[in-house]
Amino acid sequence: MRSCRELGAVFVAAWALACAAPTAPPPPTRPAPGPLAEIGAGLYQQHCASCHGMDGRGDGPVATALVVPPSDLTMISARRGGEFPAGELRTWIDGRLAPAAHGSRDMPVWGSRLHADLASGEFREERVRGSIAVIVDFLATIQQTGELPGS
Ligand code: HEC
Repeated sequence: MRSCRELGAVFVAAWALACAAPTAPPPPTRPAPGPLAEIGAGLYQQHCASCHGMDGRGDGPVATALVVPPSDLTMISARRGGEFPAGELRTWIDGRLAPAAHGSRDMPVWGSRLHADLASGEFREERVRGSIAVIVDFLATIQQTGELPGS
């Protein structure tokens, strides 16, 4: 039979192991980048990175010149309790349907800009919406899953 001391040591070792064991990782809320998100990444770099930064953290080269700081786009889900509101974001980024009552907006109205950029032709509106949709797909892949700082 083992001595009491030995058993105690085994118990302490087991306890230390149990406490050191990593806690289960949180379920992934970030989709893996697919082909559409990759196209979106290119459009993001072209149109959005100047203000929102290459990594979406709101630190693009133009950011310091703006009165209203560009949002940290990696924290969209964190600011909304883990939810990624894709539809709402598409509408907001497009901006053409935003009611004037919502006050001024420092973010460009991308629906109009993209519409102007794209040569007129078939499916022009569809291409505007498609561009915005794949940018939002890209934004979904850069969400930080952690808690908001200070929360
Ligand atoms: C000229 C600078 C500028 C550019 C370029 C720009 N944004 Fe913004 N964006 C802003 C500012 C400033 C805000 C803060 C909200 C406001 O407009 O008052 C913002 C806010 C946002 C928000 C709201 C985030 C939230 O959590 O509510 C989203 C989403 C967004 N931008 C996406 C984009 C995307 C996508 C592009 C590219 C198609 C883009 N932005 C390009 C300046 C910019």
